Amino acid sequence: MKIGSVDLPSPFAVAPMAGMTDTAFRRLVKRHGGCGLVVTEMVSAEGLVRGIDRTLEYAEYTEEERPVSIQIFGGDPEKMAAAAQIVEGMGADIVDVNMGCPVPKIAKHNAGCSLMREPGHAATVIGAMAKAVKIPVTVKMRAGWNDSERNAPALAKMMEDAGAAAVAVHGRTAAQSYSGSADWDLVARIADDLTIPVFGSGDCLEPEQVIAKLRAGVEGVLVGRGVLRNPWILAQAADLAAGRPPRPVTLADRGQFLLDYIDLLVHERVHDADGFRHSAPGTEHPAPSTQHSAPGARSHDRWVINKLRALGSWYTKGLDNGSHLRTAINRAESLAELREIVGAFFFASVSVA
Ligand SMILES: Cc1cc2nc3c(=O)[nH]c(=O)nc-3n(C[C@H](O)[C@H](O)[C@H](O)COP(=O)(O)O)c2cc1C
Repeated sequence: MKIGSVDLPSPFAVAPMAGMTDTAFRRLVKRHGGCGLVVTEMVSAEGLVRGIDRTLEYAEYTEEERPVSIQIFGGDPEKMAAAAQIVEGMGADIVDVNMGCPVPKIAKHNAGCSLMREPGHAATVIGAMAKAVKIPVTVKMRAGWNDSERNAPALAKMMEDAGAAAVAVHGRTAAQSYSGSADWDLVARIADDLTIPVFGSGDCLEPEQVIAKLRAGVEGVLVGRGVLRNPWILAQAADLAAGRPPRPVTLADRGQFLLDYIDLLVHERVHDADGFRHSAPGTEHPAPSTQHSAPGARSHDRWVINKLRALGSWYTKGLDNGSHLRTAINRAESLAELREIVGAFFFASVSVA
């Protein structure tokens, strides 16, 4: 399938997840196969335009992740257009606009899901961006603001008319946050109504569910929490789509994923301590923020430990004794300890042999 001129090798994608879908995680998911698109964590348009170091870090990606979509949030058409140009200059394949985030800090600034309450303004934002860049501009929205404002069908159509090359819909309202379940009927209706590709998002925890949603009529499926629990879910969905049984994932595979994640994170920002893989053209990179500049091994280790704790809270769900593992990871104070915990939990039966 295609989004604009961008070919996607599969219709299954890693959904944007703030704090979770960093470049290291995306690379690992991509290496396991079946992944047609990765979307970055949401990135502030304001921060991009101002060349804020931390913002550029969130937009980092590597070549092996392509095709890659950088998701931005903001509400000012001119700034969003300028941010889209920066994203294009960074070499991203797609620029995505967040219209679904219900977090007050984002929504109160006329960004995230509050754009859904101002469809005319949202269309101006997308129109300005589509005019400013050659790469496809896409939109990720929710079903609506609340149960009485489930306006995703009308808004999606407006986004198409304004120049969006695809839309993704998480079938919950902003008011729902993560309660209840995603309304995939609504998503399928939108897909039916639009000419551009429509991605659905919500509640795919098993590869069979990913396939079922695809068959219900959307062009693609964005998987969020399901990838955090099972990074092989897209590969397994691709197996099913090809008529094969989903590949088995052993405990050792799962342990290796965490060890690989630790290793990738340990090497993040180490090679080029004062630079990023893709810096915005025209913006001379400011000195790295204190959090990341010459942080010393200890604070970098702390950052890696915190990343593992964040992933651990999802990754351990559904595992036998997962809560013990989660607690152990949360108590770990060093990388060595973290590796030991992973080794003991996932490889114990292997190493004894
Ligand atoms: C931890 C977390 C962070 C998220 N961050 C973003 C984000 O930055 N941008 C966005 O559009 N959606 C974000 N989402 C929503 C997901 O992309 C997705 O639409 C939603 O979780 C429903 O899909 P799922 O049931 O497969 O998780 C986030 C979800 C989670 C769980």
